[in-house]
Amino acid sequence: MIKLDLEGVENSSYLPRRVYIFDTTLRDGEQTPGVSFTVEEKLLIARQLDRLGVDIIEAGFPITSRGEEEAVRRIAREGLEARICALARPVRGDIDKALGCDIDYLHIFIATSDLHLRHKLMMTREEVRGCLIEGVEYAKEHGVTVEFSPEDATRTELGFLKEICKTAVEAGADKVDIPDTVGVMTPRRFYRLVREIKEAVDVPISVHCHDDFGLATANSLAAIEAGAEQVHVCVNGLGERAGNASLEEVVVNLIAHYGVELRIDPKRIAETSELVERLSGIQLPPNTPIVGENAFTHESGIHVHGILGHPKTYEALTPEFVGKHRRIIVGKHTGRHAVRATLEEMGLRPSEEQLNIIVEEVKRLGDMGKRVTEADLYAIAANVMDRRVEDRVKVKQLVVVTGNTITPTASATLLVDGDEVVTSSMGNGPIDAAVNAIRSAVEGFADIKLERFYVRAITGGTDAIADVTVTLRRGDRVITAGGVSGDIVMASVEAILKGMNRLLDEVERHGEDGGGEDPQ
Ligand code: KIV
Ligand code: ZN
Repeated sequence: MIKLDLEGVENSSYLPRRVYIFDTTLRDGEQTPGVSFTVEEKLLIARQLDRLGVDIIEAGFPITSRGEEEAVRRIAREGLEARICALARPVRGDIDKALGCDIDYLHIFIATSDLHLRHKLMMTREEVRGCLIEGVEYAKEHGVTVEFSPEDATRTELGFLKEICKTAVEAGADKVDIPDTVGVMTPRRFYRLVREIKEAVDVPISVHCHDDFGLATANSLAAIEAGAEQVHVCVNGLGERAGNASLEEVVVNLIAHYGVELRIDPKRIAETSELVERLSGIQLPPNTPIVGENAFTHESGIHVHGILGHPKTYEALTPEFVGKHRRIIVGKHTGRHAVRATLEEMGLRPSEEQLNIIVEEVKRLGDMGKRVTEADLYAIAANVMDRRVEDRVKVKQLVVVTGNTITPTASATLLVDGDEVVTSSMGNGPIDAAVNAIRSAVEGFADIKLERFYVRAITGGTDAIADVTVTLRRGDRVITAGGVSGDIVMASVEAILKGMNRLLDEVERHGEDGGGEDPQ
């Protein structure tokens, strides 16, 4: 069992030994407004979830569309270790569609609150009960595992909720899930509700928490303290409205504070989050716990000093535990320790006097509201240290053609170490085409990965000034760089080229002097 070095593992006499992670990124997560995955994207995510070690993947709701049906079928046929589940209402049409996808796990739901019965289903409680029995029995006749969710359970009259859960189990349901459909629970209330349901039925209990009040993770954990053996989660907390309980938060809390057994490999959390962020197009706020860009990034002088002394001073988890890296960035809060450490990583060793000047300049820019990227810091330091700052790769000319009937194409004339190199490439848009053209012209650029691309419009309107910040990675080295221009393509090229040039410089420097020593 993986356990973190955090004191005080939570104790509850109802805590299960093993908790099952039911991931619904591909179903509830895809219900996030604006998110829609292609079949291929769903396959990529399912494979990654399997590598991560989730127990059950809810692959989709096959009745909704042909693409959804195909995605569920292809995922079910992938031969993954995780069990593959599909969602269905307790009606033959839905169940047949799901069974036709070769799944062996069916998630059957029907709303049970009077609010939903009266205003959505137009059904009586008796009709809901009848429909549920028929649906569950029909599914069980086909030999699949059935999990039942009384939708809007947390606003359902308790007596009826217990009764309907018992009905489902009597009809053959193997598991009961309690959805907090609009996130109205608090941890104590949910704990009590889970206890009530656990006493009413003799099958494993699952929970499905939405984050409307920001309590999805806390409520999920309270449910597990009350004895729930399974939890529904979405990567990056995707899901309807404010989303579902975040996989990252629930899993790390379960490991850190509860010490329960999971099949998850936490080192794969960051890569899973990054994949879903990229494919969903839903960018995480930098201060997102565990997987946000700032989760293991330090800027302030006191903190960086502490971190450099011992990372535990300001980190509850090590970044490596979830597959991330620690970063120290510079800004006006940064002290000498951080600036020196960052420059040393770049292979620069300024004297004390030079360091003072560099730190002063960083603070001056910060006070002016300017962001100081690593590429900027390098340029400042190199200038103060009287070193060559000339970019090895420069753009002499760049022409990008785009339009509604052509594939965006870029052709560039670059100066690489003073020699002209002509290059061209196509792309998924004008920026992509321009960057591809530049990348293809320089050998050392091939293994530089663009990790983050962030555009801010400084002014309003279609003539806005674009302020682009990029994060580039080459092996373990990560560097940020920025570019500003009235032309978004040029701002992007400026940022990427600045970052790539710095990384290229570092390669050269490390190669020259054997590992970052700068004989200053
Ligand atoms: O939030 C919800 O109630 C659901 C059900 C389908 C379980 O997503
Ligand atoms: Zn939901």
